[in-house]
Amino acid sequence: MKKRVILCCVTCYLLSAFPGNTGSRLMDSLYCVMEYSEGIINCSWSESPRSRQYVNMTLMDINRGPFCAKDPAKLEASHETWTCSKVFAGHRLYDSIHLAFVPNRSLESHLNVSNEGDVVKPKNLRCEVSLDQTIHCSWEVRQDVADSVDFSLYYQDQSRKEEVCKSTCWQEIPTHLSCACNFTSRPYNNPIHLFNISVGPADPKTSNVLFKICEHIKLQPRNLTINETSKGETFLISWDKDPIEKPDFNYHYELCYWRDNDVKPSEVSLDCPGHNKTLTPHNEPQVHLKLGTHLEPSSSYSVKIRVRLEEDDPSHCYKGPWSEWSAVQTLHTKSVPNTLLLCILVLSAVVVLVIFSFCGFRALVR
Ligand SMILES: *[C@@H]1O[C@H](CO)[C@@H](O)[C@H](O)[C@H]1NC(C)=O
Ligand SMILES: *[C@@H]1O[C@H](CO)[C@@H](O)[C@H](O)[C@H]1NC(C)=O
Ligand SMILES: *[C@@H]1O[C@H](CO)[C@@H](O)[C@H](O)[C@H]1NC(C)=O
Ligand SMILES: *[C@@H]1O[C@H](CO)[C@@H](O)[C@H](O)[C@H]1NC(C)=O
Ligand SMILES: *[C@@H]1O[C@H](CO)[C@@H](O)[C@H](O)[C@H]1NC(C)=O
Ligand SMILES: *[C@@H]1O[C@H](CO)[C@@H](O)[C@H](O)[C@H]1NC(C)=O
Ligand SMILES: *[C@@H]1O[C@H](CO)[C@@H](O)[C@H](O)[C@H]1NC(C)=O
Ligand SMILES: *[C@@H]1O[C@H](CO)[C@@H](O)[C@H](O)[C@H]1NC(C)=O
Ligand SMILES: *[C@@H]1O[C@H](CO)[C@@H](O)[C@H](O)[C@H]1NC(C)=O
Repeated sequence: MKKRVILCCVTCYLLSAFPGNTGSRLMDSLYCVMEYSEGIINCSWSESPRSRQYVNMTLMDINRGPFCAKDPAKLEASHETWTCSKVFAGHRLYDSIHLAFVPNRSLESHLNVSNEGDVVKPKNLRCEVSLDQTIHCSWEVRQDVADSVDFSLYYQDQSRKEEVCKSTCWQEIPTHLSCACNFTSRPYNNPIHLFNISVGPADPKTSNVLFKICEHIKLQPRNLTINETSKGETFLISWDKDPIEKPDFNYHYELCYWRDNDVKPSEVSLDCPGHNKTLTPHNEPQVHLKLGTHLEPSSSYSVKIRVRLEEDDPSHCYKGPWSEWSAVQTLHTKSVPNTLLLCILVLSAVVVLVIFSFCGFRALVR
């Protein structure tokens, strides 16, 4: 008995460690964000073009039905990246949405039921009962289908309740995935019930992606204004919040600025081509750039900023990805003569003056 428990634990551990159990590539690629000022939730995912030849998957909010208001739009043809959006109305910021992909057709294979000719369904489903009442099942599924669909093995226990057996998959040949699953039959199990075994898409109720809206808030880019202060010694960079933003939002800003001469045109497209200065939260929505400290004289600078929500307290929810960068603003610094050079110039002028006046004085005396 003890041995079996240990064996079971080891099996469970191996099963949980196996990367094949982490969900389909389609599910893993799903990424959603709430565009706060537009009041919409955008989701995007990528699908292999070959998978789409076999099965058409629809993104579902499992409690409300199809997630996308319209058919998804294609973002990139090469990777088949799709995007779709939904208005936020009807949700609250603290809501969670359970998302899953559902195939547009039945993909179930039953034991001892032939599905010859249907290349999309799992095939070669076989089960064996061993002497210790363990049932070993195995099957194969096309890799292109498995890229989009997670499969589970279903069986019925004595009470005719449907049970799920978590499977392990591996690649034996490039086009197909081989999967296997073991479960223990109890002595009183009726073989008829036991053999009501099928392989089909994972139940969206248990296999879904939880999207907590308040943790994925993307803010609108800020609008920068640059004001020259202290007679051009300092530049005040300031920006506004969107008035609809909540007072308890906790902002992180990132300011990026660069001297135009230091950056090649090819580098301007980089995220932040120059120095970047990260501002800590609770900062006023403004920052000073000082001549001498941050800026060189007689130069043109480009400045941009982006913003993100972040909470130091993990129990607070509002978080999210960086906003887009603001539009780039430019500033020009005045020419300040080098003070050392100025001193030398003044000193030499004084010396020259003294010499001249001394000579002049002697000439006058003569
Ligand atoms: C979100 O969806 C809207 C409407 O489809 C689109 O205009 C916008 O560019 C999308 N935003 C992102 C970040 O994909
Ligand atoms: C995919 O499924 C959706 C929803 O069921 C349907 O509107 C769309 O026409 C299907 N696309 C293809 C290519 O079958
Ligand atoms: C499901 O999608 C596939 C691929 O887009 C398509 O060929 C098939 O006709 C669709 N089936 C149904 C029942 O909509
Ligand atoms: C399924 O087929 C196997 C042999 O192919 C057979 O041994 C088994 O009894 C069948 N099971 C049922 C429930 O018909
Ligand atoms: C099922 O059990 C057999 C024999 O005990 C073992 O060889 C196999 O690796 C197991 N398969 C899974 C998926 O645990
Ligand atoms: C086999 O299982 C399915 C659901 O998975 C159920 O609808 C069906 O009634 C079961 N058949 C038998 C003979 O128990
Ligand atoms: C910047 O200057 C404009 C006028 O040029 C003024 O309206 C604005 O209030 C100034 N901003 C700050 C933060 O001082
Ligand atoms: C920036 O300016 C645009 C255009 O005037 C405006 O629609 C947008 O709300 C402003 N953004 C912020 C964060 O205030
Ligand atoms: C900002 O600078 C830090 C360190 O200098 C760097 O790790 C980070 O990637 C930079 N950010 C951007 C957007 O370039």
